[in-house]
Amino acid sequence: MNSMVVLISGRGSNMRALIDAGLPVAAVISNRADAAGLAYAASRGIATAIVSHRDYATRDAFDAALAQAIDAFHPELVALAGFMRILTDGFVQRYQGRMLNIHPSLLPAFPGLDTHGRALSTGVKLHGCTVHFVTAQLDHGPIVIQAAVPVLRHDDETRLAARVLAQEHRIYPQAARWFLEGQLVIEGGVVRVVGDYPQQLYAP
Ligand code: GRF
Repeated sequence: MNSMVVLISGRGSNMRALIDAGLPVAAVISNRADAAGLAYAASRGIATAIVSHRDYATRDAFDAALAQAIDAFHPELVALAGFMRILTDGFVQRYQGRMLNIHPSLLPAFPGLDTHGRALSTGVKLHGCTVHFVTAQLDHGPIVIQAAVPVLRHDDETRLAARVLAQEHRIYPQAARWFLEGQLVIEGGVVRVVGDYPQQLYAP
């Protein structure tokens, strides 16, 4: 199977789900040296690298260094997994059609941060997570798979986030596997899976 590089900034639980699913993770790259996920990747014998945004004066310079670090592994797929940097248009263009992101909401609802708090204060009854191709517009881009969970009466952000995260760990490996097996087709901005596999799940 073709390989992938995973970009993280912190905990790395989605990265771990990708690794534990047996996907061919060639390297994990973080913009923060203290990202907890790095230790797990290293413990599994996976190459790790740090490209700190603090070492670069401009976003362009950082993104160029990041691209160089990624391309050293010749990955087919770049997977953003809690990577907390806004990427330049040039970077996004470079990996157009082969960079995925996981976002903790049912996009296009709640792009950006604090998705669980916003879901609770808006009063939506379904919440969830989305894997999508990365495009220039933050948290937009063709949707590969979504998982929905109920928002329960006594939920707080912690409980709701945990319910969503469990589903993130299911759908991200699935989406990455589809991509690496060449099963994803984008037609007019809409992603279909060759073979008609379900692109949604509901976890009550
Ligand atoms: C996840 O909720 C993901 O959806 C969002 O950032 C969080 C990263 O968590 N993009 P982890 O580092 O994968 O545990």
